[in-house]
Amino acid sequence: MKTRLVSLPDFKKAAGRNHDTPISFKQAEMKPTSFLVSWGREKTFCIKTYGCQANVRDSEILRGYLLALGMKEQEDFDGADLILFNTCAIRENAENHLYGELGRAKETYLKNKDTIIAICGCVMQEEKAVRYVLDHFNFVSLIFGTNNITSFYSLLEDCLVHHEGIVDVKSNSDLIEEGFPEGKEGRESKVTAFVNIMYGCDKFCTYCIVPYTRGRERSRKEEDILAEVRCLKEQGYKQVTLLGQNVDAYGKDFHDEYAFASLLEKVAETGIERVRFVTPYPSDFKTEVFDVMKRHQNIMPYLHLPIQSGSNRVLKRMNRRYTREEYLEIVKALRERLPDVFLSTDIIVGFPDESDEDFEETLSLVREVKYDAAYTFIFSPRPGTPAYHMKDSTSDQVKHERFDRLKALIDELATNRAKEFVGKTVEVLFEKVSDRNKEMISGYDPHNKLVHVRGDSSLIGQIRKVKILESRTYSLLGELVDD
Ligand code: 5AD
Ligand code: SF4
Repeated sequence: MKTRLVSLPDFKKAAGRNHDTPISFKQAEMKPTSFLVSWGREKTFCIKTYGCQANVRDSEILRGYLLALGMKEQEDFDGADLILFNTCAIRENAENHLYGELGRAKETYLKNKDTIIAICGCVMQEEKAVRYVLDHFNFVSLIFGTNNITSFYSLLEDCLVHHEGIVDVKSNSDLIEEGFPEGKEGRESKVTAFVNIMYGCDKFCTYCIVPYTRGRERSRKEEDILAEVRCLKEQGYKQVTLLGQNVDAYGKDFHDEYAFASLLEKVAETGIERVRFVTPYPSDFKTEVFDVMKRHQNIMPYLHLPIQSGSNRVLKRMNRRYTREEYLEIVKALRERLPDVFLSTDIIVGFPDESDEDFEETLSLVREVKYDAAYTFIFSPRPGTPAYHMKDSTSDQVKHERFDRLKALIDELATNRAKEFVGKTVEVLFEKVSDRNKEMISGYDPHNKLVHVRGDSSLIGQIRKVKILESRTYSLLGELVDD
């Protein structure tokens, strides 16, 4: 296929951001042309989303665009008229997975050469990856980035009208677009909703690709966020999760360091049943946020606070801007105010030249904090980040052994903590039929513990009391009790 390169991503541009340029705000282009509407009628699409909640939310917006054309969604590629991959670049295996899936998509394309195959998301923010796709998968019709999802209609139309492939990836963005349909159309759940409060990241942890793929930190206006939450509440949503790479940096670009605590309070005051947020950055976190959590019963007693490593030497090399001791102080301040809070974290094992002593410090920190859950990763070198070039003499075998030891410790802590739930009654917001057993309904308790009960789909969207009968490491089994 002939491909037109409108713009290619540029990592250097993303890293050398000019923070003097003010952020501008604009209403997103939402209306499809009659050409697109007549193309889309009777057609089907399939979206495959990888990675974090930011990608999930972007896919929801894109799904909204496609449904507005009258298209129908299907779960698998086979027979779909449009296949969209929303990609994740955080670790190498996520990127490799994309290439495997593209191989599969090729079979669909060969059966019907009118199939539109589109790729967006973080992997497409890397020039090398874009060139690799163009060289190896020349049936791909459309490539766009995280900063131009709102140009989706015009890109798609261009591709259809001119019968050519289009690559348009903006490297950076000083723009926030508003006005997406807030409603249920594109959202994955009818019960819980993600609400972006900010985009991008300015932290530049040395291992992380996100600051290059998602651009500079920029905060949405408070009134737009609150309007979205109110609208979701009116539509019957029971829970909102406020999203940002560092939610506590919310408002920094308009010079208000306490803006997150104040925003969180206002979101709680809308009266929506449950409020959650991800992800705070330890050293930016203001204890005022804990006070707000304490004042409002509808802010869930759960905090995901990434530590990444328990060793000060490694934290420094990661460019994390806190020490182990400072992190422990924050945890202490949290537990003094909210003793019942659940705490989870992210940990990277095998960062370049992590020594046995460094790793032991991570284990000892995990024991000291007694996390309720932790997401653990083996360091994956990402091209373009500083850690990619760091000397590393630790063997893969040692890294895997460390990973297994850490995982065993975390599972042990989580299992013990889960046992404490047995016999207690918790309030569960039911979200969906269980993946494994269609006679079970699953939901979450305020601490973000997954709970399964026997029941039917009429429970979805309800908050009900559940007596816990049995615990597993990462889930609980219970039965409904009458209110
Ligand atoms: N290798 C391994 N894990 C990573 N993360 C981010 N970048 C990398 C990488 N290059 C992890 C961090 C982060 C989580 C979302 O992913 O722990 O908090
Ligand atoms: Fe990546 Fe660090 Fe930003 Fe989190 S804070 S997105 S780990 S650079």
